[in-house]
Amino acid sequence: MGESYETLESFLQEQRLFPPSAAFKKDAVATAEIYEKGKDPEAFWESMASELHWFKPWDRVLEWNLPFAKWFINGKINASYNCVDRHIQGPFRDKTAIIWEGEPGEERTLTYSDLYQEVNRFANALKKLGVKKGDRVTIYMPMIPEIVVAMLSCARIGASHSVVFGGFSAEALRGRINDAEAKVLITADGGYRRGKVYPMKQATDEILKDTPTIESVIVVRRVGETLQMAMKEGRDYWYHDVVDAAEDYCEPEQMDAEDMLFLLHSSGTTGKPKGIVHTTGGYLTGVYATFKYIFDYKPEDIFWCTADIGWITGHSYIAYGPLLNGATQVMYEGAPDYPDRGRWWSIIEKHKVSILYTAPTAIRSFMRWGIQWLEKYNLSSLCLLGTVGEPINPEAWIWYYKYVGSERCPIVDTWWQTETGQIIITPLPGITTCKPGSATHPFPGTEAEVVDEQGSPVKPGGSGYLVLTKPWPAMLRTLYKDEKRYIETYWGRFPGKYLTGDGGKLDEDGYFWILGRVDDIIKVAGHRISTIEVESALVDHKAVAESAVIGIPHEIKGEAIAAFVILKEGYEGVPEMQKELAAHVRKEIGPVATPETTIFVGELPKTRSGKIMRRLLRDIATGRALGDISTLSEPGVIKELKQKYESEEKE
Ligand code: WT7
Repeated sequence: MGESYETLESFLQEQRLFPPSAAFKKDAVATAEIYEKGKDPEAFWESMASELHWFKPWDRVLEWNLPFAKWFINGKINASYNCVDRHIQGPFRDKTAIIWEGEPGEERTLTYSDLYQEVNRFANALKKLGVKKGDRVTIYMPMIPEIVVAMLSCARIGASHSVVFGGFSAEALRGRINDAEAKVLITADGGYRRGKVYPMKQATDEILKDTPTIESVIVVRRVGETLQMAMKEGRDYWYHDVVDAAEDYCEPEQMDAEDMLFLLHSSGTTGKPKGIVHTTGGYLTGVYATFKYIFDYKPEDIFWCTADIGWITGHSYIAYGPLLNGATQVMYEGAPDYPDRGRWWSIIEKHKVSILYTAPTAIRSFMRWGIQWLEKYNLSSLCLLGTVGEPINPEAWIWYYKYVGSERCPIVDTWWQTETGQIIITPLPGITTCKPGSATHPFPGTEAEVVDEQGSPVKPGGSGYLVLTKPWPAMLRTLYKDEKRYIETYWGRFPGKYLTGDGGKLDEDGYFWILGRVDDIIKVAGHRISTIEVESALVDHKAVAESAVIGIPHEIKGEAIAAFVILKEGYEGVPEMQKELAAHVRKEIGPVATPETTIFVGELPKTRSGKIMRRLLRDIATGRALGDISTLSEPGVIKELKQKYESEEKE
């Protein structure tokens, strides 16, 4: 470890301190006792769980048979009941739940009672199509309110949703549908992105031949007439037709706390995405409590999380966390630079957003576009800013603090993962003194360590592997249909400690600094892509013999993909081939996985046992001095590669 982090050294020199302001502290939701309470995690999480509605309370809080956790044993609960029914019985009946803005500019507002009606009807419609408790339903949709309705409707009848990011290709969708063995697919005719319409239903038609478990497809009309598509009799239904025909009330299923709420695929260190399993009671408790305290949530707040629901951030902090808290939130369909680079700021001004939760990659784009785009708008409604997805460089933190938050809003740099389900390492606004670039401390009731190669905690000032040392309520329970991989991936390295895959540093004051992945996962604009997934896609092309993919530093995206490719005999490494391969990767995985640079080479550096030495490829790609090459089988290869890379760079 270590050598890939030289560029991050600047982080660790960061000395500036940002204590909470007296004004913020005065009304903060979290008070200092919360860390005291967190010292007894079971009691702490139990008190959080008791703020939700349970049909039947739990017998015990936690059963921990390492590495298998069960939370709220024998408790019975329903996610949609907690997100919707609970609120309409009280003063939030007519409170706005979702303010939606479409990219072309339309606006829709759904109150909690609107959401209640829609969810009940759609849940009945799903039932009528044969969806039962325990079934899986795949959702592949743009960012429109119906995606939230679809998730909550599945939860209402006890079916697990499996959302696939709308930016993934139909091919990627096919793999995920088949892994989940989903009975129904919910999609839309299409969506809008940067002023253009993209087809979704049409794109899925081809792969539906190879998804034997799908019995019905439900299509939301988002775009309308301009998109021509075939609706297959007896299989395809319009969302509005099935909802119109459905009964008004659907009894929520009483789910066991440990029943699967959803499945979400995420990249792992092999080509096959992992199906991450989240259950009901613990997950809801974890996201409910973290939303409330980390975002300092108050009933009058307007929250906006800019993530797509296709990622865990959108599951936990669009679909579930805000709704469990009865919050009003903004949901935006499109791109940040459409029709111009002021779009986000116009949304904040228009809807008086008070809490903004976004990613460092977006902040870096705004930095580059310049503050003139912000200056046109009144951002004084903002009270709190959050970031997630990758390490935030101190310069970006300061820029966010100064220009977006006018030095008034605390920033919460939240570290977590698809697997953790909820935020784990984070400041608490009003309590924590922040250091730009540090996610600071574990949330109350959770515990983290930085350990060395042997699994022993490092001393303050040391770096190593970030691990989690106590179970937490929203933790993944297993990998879908692959318990063995669950045990090996997360618990195989250090006994009793959950391996996050991230490198970390603990500073002299006990602050955690996340240094990025130490495995074969790349974070491209915050999106998680495995090098092996991209390599598999490349090798799948008829011209490619072998490939090695690495992450290289990128000013905006944080990391970008560089592919080293050996072509088969008879193919030429010309620019057209680069384009063809990029298009191929896009088709197999999606635009997020497109290589930034493709370098055609004759050989790849390998150890004597045949393992590709990605470390050396990274050295070449970042122009660093080559590290230890003593294990290389043919040292000449690397010289040739270096020359080749440098000459391509110059072109
Ligand atoms: C990986 C998990 C969890 C929501 C989105 C990503 C990186 C996430 C931070 C942060 C530094 C971060 C880590 C982590 N990451 N948040 N605040 N500081 N790194 O979920 O796609 O499962 O990715 O994102 O590398 O392991 P994900």
